[in-house]
Amino acid sequence: MRISVIGVGYLGAVHAAAMAELGHDVIGLDVDAARVVSLQAGRAPFHEPDFEEILQRGLEAGRLRFTTDYAELADAEVHFLGLGTPQRADGFGADLTYLEAAVTSLAGVIATRGGAPTLVVGKSTVPAGTARTLAGRLAHLPGTDLMWNPEFLREGFAVKDTLTPDRLVYGVAEPGAASADAQVALLDAVYAPLLAAGTPRLVMGLETAELVKVSANAFLATKISFINAIAEICEALGGDVTEVAAAIGMDDRIGRKFLRAGVGFGGGCLPKDIRAFIASAEDAGVGEALGFLREVDAVNQRRRQRVVELAREMLGDLRGRRITVLGAAFKPDSDDVRDSPALEVTARLMSAGAHVTVTDPAALANAARRVPGLHGEPDTDAALAGAELVVLLTEWREYRDFDPVRTRARVAAPRMIDGRTVLDPVAWRDAGWELRSLGRGEVPSADEAPAAEPVGASGQVPIAGR
Ligand code: UDX
Repeated sequence: MRISVIGVGYLGAVHAAAMAELGHDVIGLDVDAARVVSLQAGRAPFHEPDFEEILQRGLEAGRLRFTTDYAELADAEVHFLGLGTPQRADGFGADLTYLEAAVTSLAGVIATRGGAPTLVVGKSTVPAGTARTLAGRLAHLPGTDLMWNPEFLREGFAVKDTLTPDRLVYGVAEPGAASADAQVALLDAVYAPLLAAGTPRLVMGLETAELVKVSANAFLATKISFINAIAEICEALGGDVTEVAAAIGMDDRIGRKFLRAGVGFGGGCLPKDIRAFIASAEDAGVGEALGFLREVDAVNQRRRQRVVELAREMLGDLRGRRITVLGAAFKPDSDDVRDSPALEVTARLMSAGAHVTVTDPAALANAARRVPGLHGEPDTDAALAGAELVVLLTEWREYRDFDPVRTRARVAAPRMIDGRTVLDPVAWRDAGWELRSLGRGEVPSADEAPAAEPVGASGQVPIAGR
């Protein structure tokens, strides 16, 4: 099939290459000429396992190409919209201008097709109601329909998540109508190999499909902030959040995934998507329903500040102190620093006057563009040299595997904040480190522990629930 993908950022570029991998004839469009040149040359503009391989395979097979010119899209029967929906400048709400501009340009191209069947398929994460508005802008074009088919890919697993998704969600304007059947059949033809492999496919209304995506992200963010709230409690009461998470996660109803406590969630999706979800609920007059998401956001922000407070507890005044931060990316195996907790903590430590050196295996170039004056050092040993405090904020494998004895020999003073709760506290303390972990409280010593409640006069121990 002839397919276009409009907007070849992270989602769109991976989708375009993945559709070529399925055997389709794909053209990717972006207004960013540099990005188009890079992709056309077979170079990935971001760090993503397997992506460059399928990109090059598609280009070499002649099934994939990239352009900045909408006129070249006229042959395509199916157009995917992969445009970004960034956070609006006012902080809440999604900025839909890229998506709207693309649909306007696309409508001009579709008008030249003389009514030949054309399907426009939105993949971007949008507030519910967006798809129906965009469909209205295409309504004057005979033979043209719009579906919403949200994308759930994770960075670092983008190719795998696109080619072997957990489910395919199809939003249609009129579920159950004959027109919907034809649209579903066309999209089924695009995803035929995935469906043949048994991928579940769910057909629903446009608004429901949009809501599936934002609900999924809101749930994931809530799960992380839930465990981070428990981390705050653990720090105060002397518990260990990793043990709480492991134990509650064994209950199938809870599940162990997305219960890793630490400095919280970041990236290009979860933080902005929950804020946009709150804004859209408020616009709809049901803001109360998502009031808890403000709390989810607040817990997430508090974790970042907690790291700065811990640094002050360990060093006192931070002015002039030498701090080494391990990690800049918002998560390991990524060079993405959008809303990265690691980078924001770094910036806060810098504004508190500390001399901060940041190291990261992949994200330093992006980090330097975001934080003016950032001192990045790609060599880990060089970054650790002279540190009075080391702060682990992105749990790259190599940092998790650090040997506490060897690392001690590199720094000026063995102080560590484990912002992802991944280091073994016993091994690090045995090696002489002063270690503080997010989510692990100091266990009170026997003489600090509160005295036991005296047993009642009768000698009876009270039984809970009586
Ligand atoms: C997320 C969703 O997972 C994906 O389905 C959606 O399409 C886009 O947003 P992504 O942003 O790639 O994907 O990252 P993800 O792996 O979900 O991690 C998001 C953030 O949460 C990272 O900063 C990560 O460090 C943090 N996280 C994740 C935790 O702090 N604890 C966890 O247990 C899991």
